[in-house]
Formats: sequence, C-alpha cells, structure tokens
Amino acid sequence: MMAGCNSTFRLANPYLSDKETLYHLGISTDDNLQQRFGDVKYICLGGKNKRMENFANLLYRDLGYPENSEVDDASKPKEERKLIDITGSAGRYSMFKVGPVLSANHGIGPASLSVVLHELLKLIHFSHCNDVSFIRIGTSGGLGLEPGTVVITDTAYNGLLQPHHAQVACGKEIHYPSVTNPDLRNGLLKCALTVTKQCVIGNTLSANDFYEEQARLDGAFCSFSEDEKNAFIRRAHDEYGVKNMEMESTCFTAMCLRAGVKCGVICVALVDRLVRDNVTGVKGTGVGTDNKLKEWELLPQVICAKYIKEN
Ligand code: URA
Repeated sequence: MMAGCNSTFRLANPYLSDKETLYHLGISTDDNLQQRFGDVKYICLGGKNKRMENFANLLYRDLGYPENSEVDDASKPKEERKLIDITGSAGRYSMFKVGPVLSANHGIGPASLSVVLHELLKLIHFSHCNDVSFIRIGTSGGLGLEPGTVVITDTAYNGLLQPHHAQVACGKEIHYPSVTNPDLRNGLLKCALTVTKQCVIGNTLSANDFYEEQARLDGAFCSFSEDEKNAFIRRAHDEYGVKNMEMESTCFTAMCLRAGVKCGVICVALVDRLVRDNVTGVKGTGVGTDNKLKEWELLPQVICAKYIKEN
C-alpha cells in the first residue's frame, strides 16, 4: 500500500479491477487517465468549489500557464484559455488541472471529504502517478488567535480529543492515526512565514459538525452550558495544543497516511473561539469588516501556490 517517493503509487485493495468508474468525479478508467493525470504531483483540496476554482486560476497564472493543464481550447493564446471543470456534469464536486496540480473541492465534513478522497486516490493509482502530496487549504475557528491567523496542522484530534479518525466498516470501528507529514508541514510553515507573520503550527480539532461538536452555543440546539463550552475549549487549547477547529482534518490525514501519500493542512482562522462563536468579517455579523473574510480565505491559497511554485 505504501508508495515510496519515486515509485509508482499503488493502492492495495485486492477488489479493485482494471475498469472502474470514479462516479463522483465524472471520469472512468476509459478516460486516458495515465496520459492526462500521470504527471500529477499535488492534489489541493478545500471545501467550496468556487474557492478551488479561484485557487486553480491563481495557480495557472503563477505557474505561467503550463501546457499540461486542462483547458477549453488549447489553440487560443495561453492567457485567454479557460480552465475546465473536469467533473463535467457529475455535479457533486469540481476539479481543475493546472500543470502538475489538481485543485478540487471536498464539500463540508468527513462524509463528503471521504468520497472524493477515495476517488482521488483511485485516480492517482490508475494514472500511475508517483510522489503525490495532498494539501488541504481551508477555513477554521481559531483558539486564542487573531482572526486571519494561518494554522498549519500537526496532529488532528477528533471531537473526543483523540488523535485518530474512527472509520466504521461492517459494523466495527477502526481507528487510524491522523497526523500530517513533518516535512510538508515545516515546508508550508516556512513558506507561510514569507507571506504573513500571523502563522503557527498546532493541533487541530476536527469535528463532525459546525455547531454542537465545536462547542457552539448558537446552533438550533445546545446540550451544554456556557461554562461547559468554555471549559472544553480551554482544555482543548491548554492540554492538547489545539489551535483551531474545523471539520475535515482527522479524516483527511488518516486517509492520506493509510494510502501512503504525504499530506498537509493549512487553514486560516476566521474567529477566535475563546472570545465568540460567530464567524467574524462577514456581512451581518456586526463583527469585523465585511470583506475581511475574502481576504483571509485567500491566505492559504496564496501560501499553497507559493509552496508549489518553490518546490
Ligand atoms: N469552519 C469550521 O468548521 N469552524 C469554524 O469555526 C470556522 C470554519
């Protein structure tokens, strides 16, 4: 199962056949995968499709409009070519290819993320890729951090503050470790520090929902008191080194580790959860400037693009 740096990536699942449909990505093994995707070295993922399209366009410019991108019309001058959404009419996710990079969205939470990760891992298996790194660029709630701070994940903890992802299969729960690749996270930090001084490495609490599991009081329901909320967030921060909370990093890191690919997680904090629940910098919240969110969301994209360009 483990893929060495310079060896062709292989999945060990004995039930995989030569003919497979990657249903949610809208492609199959009949689509010249090795020719189209064999050069892929980075797979970048984030929640929203628009964000990942934006990231793909940013990267396309930064990498100088590489020929090995998937575009609408290769006969046009480079600057006028438009990146195409490879998933076509499949409708669940978007995916763009820019040189050696795939930029795809994963939706929200581990359920949605795991579906696209299974298919992306199958994609690099059938495409005979080697030395692929997976990077999640996302948003999060920070703990004791100014909104706009970038957090690079060391270890991802689940909502019970355990450092693993619990995968249920055939009525049993199996625990897989959820840690990022040290070289990749240190490389991302080095690069991030050239973009912003507000950047830290820390642990990430990855919850199954945005409200109760992230100890928010302002969901439709709340089963705990404000004191219990504060005690939990404090404990996560003080005892477990948790710097931010989001919804994907345990599943993401565990699946990447299991597959034997390097992975990194870089998220911007949109709110200090030691201070408030609602995301700042968004219209209507009355906290921060309305357009701050857009500016902050761009930070992981800029850092990731720079990292890819320089490595
Ligand atoms: N995403 C989350 O999961 N939590 C936050 O607080 C912000 C973004």
